[in-house]
This record gives sequence, structure tokens and C-alpha cells, in this order.
Amino acid sequence: MARLSNSLICGLLFAASQLARSVAGLDLTVSTSGGNESSPILYGLMFEDINHSGDGGIHGQLLRNNGFQGPDTSLDAYAAIGNVKLSVDTQNPLTAAIPRSLKVAVPEGVSGQVGFSNAGYWGIPVNADTYTTSFYIKGDYVGPITVRLAGAASGIEYAAKTINVVSTSAKYSQVETTFQSKQAPDGNNIWALTFDASKVAGRSLNFDYIQLFPPTFNGRPNGLKPALANVVSALKGSFLRFPGGNNLEGMTPETRWKWNETIGPLTDRPGRNGTWGYPNTDALGLNEYFLWCKDMNLKPILVVWDGLSLDGPIIAGDALEPYIDDVLNELEYVLGDVTTQYGALRASHGFPDPWPVTHVGIGNEDHLWGGGPSYAERFTRFHDAIKKAYPQLTIIASTPDYLPDPKPAGIWLDWHTYDTTDEMVGRFNMFDNVDRAFPYFVGEFACVSKNDGVHVPFPIMQTSVAEAVFMIGVERNSDVVKMAAYAPLLEHADGDQWTPNLIPFNNNPDGVVRTTSYYVQQLFSVNRGKTILPVKADGPFGPVYWVASRADNSFYVKFANYGDAPQKVTVHIDGPSRARLTTLSGGPDATNNFSETQVTPKSTDINAQGGTFAIELPAWSVAVLVAE
Ligand code: AHR
Repeated sequence: MARLSNSLICGLLFAASQLARSVAGLDLTVSTSGGNESSPILYGLMFEDINHSGDGGIHGQLLRNNGFQGPDTSLDAYAAIGNVKLSVDTQNPLTAAIPRSLKVAVPEGVSGQVGFSNAGYWGIPVNADTYTTSFYIKGDYVGPITVRLAGAASGIEYAAKTINVVSTSAKYSQVETTFQSKQAPDGNNIWALTFDASKVAGRSLNFDYIQLFPPTFNGRPNGLKPALANVVSALKGSFLRFPGGNNLEGMTPETRWKWNETIGPLTDRPGRNGTWGYPNTDALGLNEYFLWCKDMNLKPILVVWDGLSLDGPIIAGDALEPYIDDVLNELEYVLGDVTTQYGALRASHGFPDPWPVTHVGIGNEDHLWGGGPSYAERFTRFHDAIKKAYPQLTIIASTPDYLPDPKPAGIWLDWHTYDTTDEMVGRFNMFDNVDRAFPYFVGEFACVSKNDGVHVPFPIMQTSVAEAVFMIGVERNSDVVKMAAYAPLLEHADGDQWTPNLIPFNNNPDGVVRTTSYYVQQLFSVNRGKTILPVKADGPFGPVYWVASRADNSFYVKFANYGDAPQKVTVHIDGPSRARLTTLSGGPDATNNFSETQVTPKSTDINAQGGTFAIELPAWSVAVLVAE
């Protein structure tokens, strides 16, 4: 008989122990006292404009290339209607920030309705809603202009509104109108504008900064798209980290995210060449991020640029001084009262009160892109300058590595990971023994693939359970891990650069996917205790993982079953007699995507028998027991 290798023997013993456990069950006793205080802001959101998650995503404006901003000198998204010639014009700037416009030239002798259409971000979501559209027009024209929403392929008209416009060639005039639309069956729609060609024949009109908004989240002007904002809001996160991510850093220092170009009137925002390969309009700018935080009760975690871009060059040493001054100006804009120069500027933009920023991140992932060796010096310069001006702020380093030795007291450490399933599960206990003096922020994490390393298009149950195992480890250590966020948050499925994402979407009426990972994040976020309780167990972690917490008289026990056998668990808690068990489960490949929803949370009420709750965790499951 062949000799069994040690690893095979270990594997067999492990499998036997799992089988024995799934038959006999795991026995847990939750202590009702003791334990560690849990971070009250543990779960939250990370946002940057990746995958058209901002422009074309959660930002409400629906037309693409609406101001020809950033590097966009093309006619992307536009098409001519009738016998006209469209071009991008540089001779009729709207503002210094918006130097290009759409020139619509009408040949001699043309009559009838002509104009142009905009195809949005791979379509336009057209619902039975009231829409607001606006545009700037220059050129002599007095007469009717009609705006429409229509099917791109079908030509079916869902909305049309005709307004009388008086425009001159002396300057741009802004036109705005609202109209009601019917429901379109899908997202393959266009916005169109037409005018009377006979009034312009042989001449041209210029159009610029064209906008289309549905009703917005909380009714904010220039606000968020409710179809996505409602789903994000339902995560009940505690914080929002912004504006990146790589999109903060830029490919070069020149194309970094510049706070001062994202504030004030929209037509004063030039936009930029975003890191993820498409123009950013910056209509979702600094103040819009703070309004997002306000409307969803999120603590803003503002990240500032620190000299590192993806393609460099890295700015370090004394060359950093103007950039440090720029960050101090940014912080004065955010935190200064109206007697300060930048606080007054903020007030002039409609926000007299400072924004409630308490934590500032210095850069993003400075251990990458060659940033490590200079980070200690760059971090120290920013840290010291910010602390001198704003001693109350907590400074977050973008990596636990490459920091000055000793680390400045009071800083937090941002740490990111994108893992295979086994890697992610292997991180379950990574925070058990870290130095408690320096709190952690898991600023980005996701299980992106099975062990083959091939990114999944949508989270699957196996990757989501792996995330739950990791999060249980985080929550057990939430005295030192203060915040954690899945990333990326959003993905326009027709314009993405990265998978998997928490909330993929398209323009169809039902085009928002609550992925298996979304439900894991939501389950963990809405079921939070204040104290992490000690738990006595009659077996080790794996395949079942757990964490227990308490808030007043409510007890929360979270579970992940990272295995393909169901597991029986008995849970003893002194006091509560009733509980609600919410379970998310499916085969390892079960997924939610645009064509099917295979996994949703299911809840059931259970009673304790003699202080004990008996439950069964299905294979590949995440569950929360809330006992009261
Ligand atoms: O989340 C996608 C990217 O991953 C982020 O922009 C970056 O911080 C990380 O490397």
C-alpha cells in the first residue's frame, strides 16, 4: 500500500473533524459581560470615480460629454439629427473652464426640424418621472426648441417638451425646462434637441453644458441618482472615504484630483482626465461629497494628494511645499469659518457652515507605484503641517509600511487587500496580535476570485462568504480596526474597468444588482453591537466562524460557514428568549447578476429552549442571529 503523505493525512483528519462537527454540532456560549468596545463607525463606504460610478453612475446628470471637459475633444455620445454638421468648437468658449462647445451648422436651404442627440452613458434611464433639462445656447435664434426622450432603436417617444427660446450671437443664454416622461421598457434611450432649421439655414448655433437630471436623492440640485443612492443608503454605512483610490492620485501630478477645480458653479469646473481612462466632469465635487455624507449620515473621510501619481514623477522634498499649502487651503475651505479666506469662499458657494471632517488620509496606497521609499518623508511633511494647523484632526497613513520610525502618536493606518478566497479566509486572524497603539482602517477590501486568481464578473457566494470570514476577524478586533469598506462600490456594467464590484448597474428600469457581497455588507452593517463579547466554543474556527456583540439588551451573533456541508450550532445566551435569524446562502458559485437573483437574505424567528438557540447554517452561508 502506498504511504500516505503528511499533508494527505492532515487533510483527511481535518475532513473527519469537519464531518464529526457537522453531525454533532458546534456549541457556543456567549458571555453577557466583558469584552471590548467595538468601533461605532466600523462599516462604511469607499468611493472613487471608477467604472463610471460617479459620472454616469451615482451622480444624477444623465448626458455624456455634456461640457467637452477634460481631454474630451470628441463628439462622443452626440449624433446629428437631420441635415446638420456637428463639430467641437473652440471659438465660442462658455467659460474659461469650459472652452469647447457643440457647433451645429445648418446648410443653406435646409428646413424642418434639425438638431442633435446625446446617447448618455450607454443609454439613458427613462422612467415615469419629472426630468429637468438645461443647456446654454449662443447664436441668433428666436423660436421653438423641442427636447425629447426616445428609444434609440425603437424611436418611440417617451417625453417631448417644446419651449420658445430667444438666443443671440452676443452671448450664451441658459435655458432650463422640466417635463414629465413615460416609462421606457429599457435603458437604450437618447435625449434629443431639435429646432427650426429654416431660421438658421446658412449659419450655426452653439450649445454647451447640456444637462438632464431625473428627480434627485433628497431633492438636491446637482444631486445623486435615487436608483443608486437608495441602494447605497440602505447599506447604513457609517463613513464615506473619498475621492480615491487611484482616481485621487492621477496618472501624473498634473492630472491628480484637484479639490479647487471641483467647487463652485458647474461651469467653472474644467473636469480632468480621470485615472480610470475617461474624463471626469467633477460635477460630483468636494461639496457634493459632503452633501452625500450629510444625506446618508456618513462621516466624511477626506483623502488628500501627497505627491504620488501612478506614472509619476513622485514629488518629494521641498518641491512638496506648494502641494502642502494647497492641502492647507483645502482644509481651510472645508473647516475654516467664514472669516477665513477659503471658509468665505465655501460660504460664497452656499455652504456657510464648515463640514464635519475629523479624519484626513494622506495619499492612497503609497507603498505602490514606487512611492514607498519616499513616503516616510512625504507623510511627515503633510502630517506635521496639518497637525500644526488642525491639531484636532486624526491623520491616516495610506499604508502601515514605509512610515517614520517611531510613528507619530495618534495616527491611523489605512490597509487594503484584494484577495483570492483562501487568501481572504487566511486573513481571519491577522489583526489578533497587532499593536493596539495604532488603529487600522481597512480602506479597501474584496475577495475578487476563487483560488485560480481569475476575477469573477460578479461576487459569488464563495467569495462573499470569504469576505464575511474576514469581516468576522475584523469585528472581533474592532477595538483596533476602526473602519472597513468593500471596494469598489459601484460599476456601470457597460463601462467598467474592474470586477467584481458591490453594486453593478446599467440603465434598465431594473438595472441595479444587489450582489451577494452587497447583502453581506448590509447584514454586517445593520446588525452592530457596541461591545464585542467573549464566546466560549467547543471547537476551533473553521469552517464555521463567529463573532458576538451586544448593544443594550440586543445580542448579535454573526456566522460564516465557509464550507460545503451544513453545520449545526447551539448558541447559549443568558437572558434572551427570542431571536431572529437572517441567513444568506447558496452554492459556492451562486450569484446575483442582471439576469438572475439567486441569493437573497431569508429571516426566521426562533425561540430559545432553556437559554439555548439551536440553528443550522447551510453550506456556504452567512448568518446573523439577533437575540433579544
Ligand atoms: O478599488 C480599485 C483600486 O484598487 C483603487 O483605486 C486602488 O486604491 C486599489 O489599488
